[in-house]
Amino acid sequence: MRRIIPLFIITVSLFGCESSQQVSQDPLEQKIDSIMSKMSLTEKIGQTAQRGTSSRVKGALSEELKTAVREGRVGSLINVMNKDFVDELQRIAVEESPNGIPLIFARDVIHGFKTIFPIPLGQAATWNPELVEAGARVAAVEASTYGVRWTFAPMLDISRDPRWGRIAESPGEDPFLASELSAAYVKGFQGDDLSDPSSMVACAKHFVGYGAAEGGRDYNTAIIHEPLLRNVYLPPFKKAIEAGVQTFMSGFNELNGVPVSGNQFLLDQVLRQEWAFDGFVVSDWNSVTEMIAHGYCADEKDAAYKAARAGVDMEMTSQSYDKHLQELIDEGKLDVNQLDRMVRAILRVKFRMGLFEQPYRIDNEEVVLSEDHLKKAKDAALQSIVMLKNEEDILPLKTSQKVAVIGPLANAPLDQLGTWIFDGDQDDSVTPLTSLKEKLTANRVKVAAGLDYSRDRSTAQFSSAVNAAKQSDIVLFFAGEEAILSGEAHSRAHINLPGAQEELIKEIRKKTKKPIVLIIQAGRPIVLENILDDVDAVLMAWHPGTMGGPAIVDVLLGDYNPSGRLPVTWPKSVGQVPIYYNYKNTGRPAREESFVGIDDIPIGAWQSSLGNNSHYLDDGFRPQYPFGYGLSYTSFEYDNLKVSEDSLNSNGELKVSFELTNTGVLPGVETVQLYIRDHVGTITRPVKELKKFQRVVLNPKETKTLELTLSSSDLKFYNAENEFVLESGQFSVFVGANAQNTMKKDFWVR
Ligand code: BGC
Repeated sequence: MRRIIPLFIITVSLFGCESSQQVSQDPLEQKIDSIMSKMSLTEKIGQTAQRGTSSRVKGALSEELKTAVREGRVGSLINVMNKDFVDELQRIAVEESPNGIPLIFARDVIHGFKTIFPIPLGQAATWNPELVEAGARVAAVEASTYGVRWTFAPMLDISRDPRWGRIAESPGEDPFLASELSAAYVKGFQGDDLSDPSSMVACAKHFVGYGAAEGGRDYNTAIIHEPLLRNVYLPPFKKAIEAGVQTFMSGFNELNGVPVSGNQFLLDQVLRQEWAFDGFVVSDWNSVTEMIAHGYCADEKDAAYKAARAGVDMEMTSQSYDKHLQELIDEGKLDVNQLDRMVRAILRVKFRMGLFEQPYRIDNEEVVLSEDHLKKAKDAALQSIVMLKNEEDILPLKTSQKVAVIGPLANAPLDQLGTWIFDGDQDDSVTPLTSLKEKLTANRVKVAAGLDYSRDRSTAQFSSAVNAAKQSDIVLFFAGEEAILSGEAHSRAHINLPGAQEELIKEIRKKTKKPIVLIIQAGRPIVLENILDDVDAVLMAWHPGTMGGPAIVDVLLGDYNPSGRLPVTWPKSVGQVPIYYNYKNTGRPAREESFVGIDDIPIGAWQSSLGNNSHYLDDGFRPQYPFGYGLSYTSFEYDNLKVSEDSLNSNGELKVSFELTNTGVLPGVETVQLYIRDHVGTITRPVKELKKFQRVVLNPKETKTLELTLSSSDLKFYNAENEFVLESGQFSVFVGANAQNTMKKDFWVR
């Protein structure tokens, strides 16, 4: 019988520098005490080492690694994907190392293991935490059969910059949506019982600010003042702790001048002291020794010292702890109690995982890519698709219409899987072309890719694509980015469709005048300014995963009514970036009525700021599509917004009610969004902040009266003193279909 280890332990053992002499009453802590009392310094340092190879290295199991495990000099391994090696290394750890402490095998299982789900940004577009939780569960069930019991996910980096390649892995720009998804991922990966061999420990990464990289250039400097950090960047991480996350990863980036992997304020003050996190922190890949290049540490020894002092418990791949912790302790520079705290945190998680009772993986290969998993992946892909444009209801396709299937992403089984899928296999992907051929009779489908891959600049196949279009009623243009153009270290300065895709779209438009449906598969919002007028409909499918093809085709054919909503603001041009909905008003806010465009300025005009506000002369101030936006094959109307009270006290609640009607002829899902604005603050407050959302299913002509509860704690924020406060004054509540299209009511906090 499996033993359930209580998740709560007494506070005395939570914080830094506890003494090994302290006697804990908690049975789990007592077990840790007992094992630590027998461990040598070498073994303790060993627990802090995560060894491993890059995700692709195969080859034999090295004798050096086996010896290191046998001597208790390794705590965890990353990227060991040969099941026999996993079993053998665990056997050596358990049976031959001095205290038989099991290893944790780790891997990036980001949006699926073998059954690949949409990229996390796509999953965020579902606005459906239950679905995200189910996807994470599928990933855990599949990966754990290979011995992976620890995933480096979820990535919780808020990103306001689509140039950043890793926006693909992020939950988007909003702290509230990201927090809801954070909890869902953690629950899904970790399951109800961490000691179940099919559960995976989650890792909240990259703590913190990695998504605020300057200019969207990966690994770049992040400068975030503390109230902004606490109001926007930290909430999803805090929520992960509330959901029980067991590990954190310190990012590659520096934050306000101090690399996170040496940042005591973040890793000790915020994480351990304020949030009482009692799991452990792993560095990112070599992020400890990269503090030398950052110019924060003189050498490896200094890096080991600063990382350990700050609170990095386990070092991923670089070996500065292995080489220098002993010396630092012998010299009296690093307190041995600090090492004990680190080891204790690692052992705590190993105990909670049940590894001491059941260290071995349970082979359960038949669950991998099961029908149920593929169905869940398809559901996620379906719900992630955001319809951005649908002129004259060109979609869904009409029966009997002949379609031309054009574009580099129509049949790109690897690319549809998206970034960071080490274990997904393109042979398992079902592409849009395959699905279309299954669903439509052969005489309705003409295929001519036109371009072989997204960056292809050759025009050699343009004429065959134009011919296919001519022989059809409608063009399905499958555009986008190859998977490799987003993800880590793949930032882009121009985020329009790469290669000659825009040119081909224009050529087809010019030469055929046929309606064009643009289906985008990409890791980020794509700037459409050059082609939006040339296409009649646009579907954003992100990189939709293994079952992306059938999901896209269901939407095209109207078998599924699109319901995805943007988790990020979609810019018109790169020049507008960063652009996000929860911006500050400024002293001269942009206004529709007074907007002066570049062509409105008289030649030789006198230099004056009058009439101009915080906007671009050439691109205005509105994005292409706002946060929360997405169309449906039906239409919805909001009406009759009411608030139950005009004012609210510090413990009060407000009922916000409204009517939602499906005014179209099809059933559909609307994601209602509730935002607030705090008009006057001791520090300025954003013009809108998302506080609630709900997916609502409505039949044609059905009206529902909905009620959302806003409590005073939803109105709190971190002020300049970094206190979480509710300030009295005027507030507005907004309800609507997206951040731009809302009804409004005012109320007061007294
Ligand atoms: C990434 C992490 C990832 C780690 C291990 C790093 O390059 O930044 O997100 O978990 O590699 O693969």
